[in-house]
Amino acid sequence: MALKKLVAGNWKMHGLSSDIGEIQAIAEASRQYPQVDVALCVPTILIERAARAVPGFAIGGQDVHHAEKGAHTGCVSAHMMRDAGAVLTIVGHSERREAQRESNDQVKAKAEAALSCGLGVILCVGETLEVREAGDAVASVEAQLDASLPRTLAGEADFAIAYEPIWAIGSGKVPTAAEIGEMHAALRRRLIAAYDDSGGDVRILYGGSVKGSNAAEIFAVANVDGALVGGASLKAADFMPIVAAAAAAG
Ligand code: PGA
Repeated sequence: MALKKLVAGNWKMHGLSSDIGEIQAIAEASRQYPQVDVALCVPTILIERAARAVPGFAIGGQDVHHAEKGAHTGCVSAHMMRDAGAVLTIVGHSERREAQRESNDQVKAKAEAALSCGLGVILCVGETLEVREAGDAVASVEAQLDASLPRTLAGEADFAIAYEPIWAIGSGKVPTAAEIGEMHAALRRRLIAAYDDSGGDVRILYGGSVKGSNAAEIFAVANVDGALVGGASLKAADFMPIVAAAAAAG
């Protein structure tokens, strides 16, 4: 049976108080699609205001520190994020893996910290263009996944993977349906190897230049259980057609 689709927006470093109305518009419109889980991962400082503005709608963060508390200037723990009203967080986004030099070990520790305090996780993996062109995309992403996965999925918090080819993020370029299908099938096999039957229930999202115009084709691919959406998640007018496509795909 197909998993319920998850469409999550990643606002990255976008969003001010004046954008709360857009979050409300997305939350309100999403109520028409109870067959899809919809979430918005907003800048940390907006989490509390967003969560108060849209009770019952899933607001998430974009990163957490792996420690519960301590001398980590400028960082935010998973407990703090939950306390502010987040129900999930992204970890291991390629922009952090690259700019903040986050390792697989760190990403794994962040995922474990979030899950252990009941915060859902979207863990990102993906290859560079160089790796794709060398024909190593699947092996490289499998290795990244294996090294980043939390040890156990015990607990209530939701755990999802986002496959985001780095060259597709914000570029308007998207892999072919066959390339997405090949990667998602490989990731599904790795998840089952890691978690037995529960690996079959982990949603695998595709991310990278998802738009209303290409969402239906992407959601039709086997093992694509939703999307992580950057640029097209900032406005309800761009984001809702993606949610509608996920609902239509079932
Ligand atoms: P994009 O970003 O949809 O703007 O390509 C996706 C992401 O980085 O999560």
